[in-house]
Amino acid sequence: MNGRLTGRVAIVTGAASGIGKATAQRLAQEGARLILADLNAAALDHAVAELGGDAIAFDAGDAQSCRNLVAQAIAVAGRIDILCNIAGIMDWGPMADFDDDRWERMLRINLSGVWHLSRAAIPHLVETKGCIVNMSSAAGLVGIPYTTAYCASKAGVVALTKSLAIEFAAAGVRINAICPTGVKTAMHGAVALPDGVDMDMVMRNSPKLGDLCNPEDIAAAVAFLASDDARKITGIALPVDAGQTAG
Ligand SMILES: NC(=O)c1ccc[n+]([C@@H]2O[C@H](COP(=O)([O-])OP(=O)(O)OC[C@H]3O[C@@H](n4cnc5c(N)ncnc54)[C@H](O)[C@@H]3O)[C@@H](O)[C@H]2O)c1
Repeated sequence: MNGRLTGRVAIVTGAASGIGKATAQRLAQEGARLILADLNAAALDHAVAELGGDAIAFDAGDAQSCRNLVAQAIAVAGRIDILCNIAGIMDWGPMADFDDDRWERMLRINLSGVWHLSRAAIPHLVETKGCIVNMSSAAGLVGIPYTTAYCASKAGVVALTKSLAIEFAAAGVRINAICPTGVKTAMHGAVALPDGVDMDMVMRNSPKLGDLCNPEDIAAAVAFLASDDARKITGIALPVDAGQTAG
């Protein structure tokens, strides 16, 4: 693997599992120095033992914890070049059963977490002319029934990405999002459809290339957007969705 990211310091959230862990592995292969962050401290330690770098446990649903993560990253690595906001949760259910706590938890972790980490990291990214890669979803681009809170959180990530990309373009900070279709991870495996859902409605925008994505398919797109190969790309929401949102 070439060294597109040699000398860069990358924070990867959600790095204990799935897409975050595959991204950490890919960025390390491309030369980045890793700061791996996750709520699951035990799994995070395993990831660091495997991939190298430093582990920082944090909670994306807590603003102060997000600020602490950035401060600790600066303390251990001295700079931040790449912020990958990948930590997230999924929760399904018909609206009538989906109480306000579940709605608020979803937005707090999946959307506000991205805001708080971006707000804390951007002053450091201005210094390094760095970049942010946010993990949205195909669910941030199209509606999916029984998934309203998740879709709203991921569409919010797209809106945040585009707005901040414009605000910080003149400062040399690029900010992009990736919108995957279903990916073979613990999150996807744990989706339990509520009884009585209409599967025809759920699947009407299914991926066209057959199988689900592997985490490595998404990691490759993160590495591209984080590299200088994407130096003229900012403010995009890149579908890596096997054609799901094509029609
Ligand atoms: N798997 C899919 O089908 C799919 C599709 C599109 C987008 N995504 C998005 O990709 C991202 C990664 O998902 P994944 O499939 O790898 O899932 P995963 O469950 O394998 O990994 C998610 C990671 O986020 C961490 N996490 C959860 N809540 C956290 C919190 N409050 N603070 C810090 N860390 C927290 C978990 O501990 C876990 O390590 C998520 O944002 C998800 O919404 C996933």
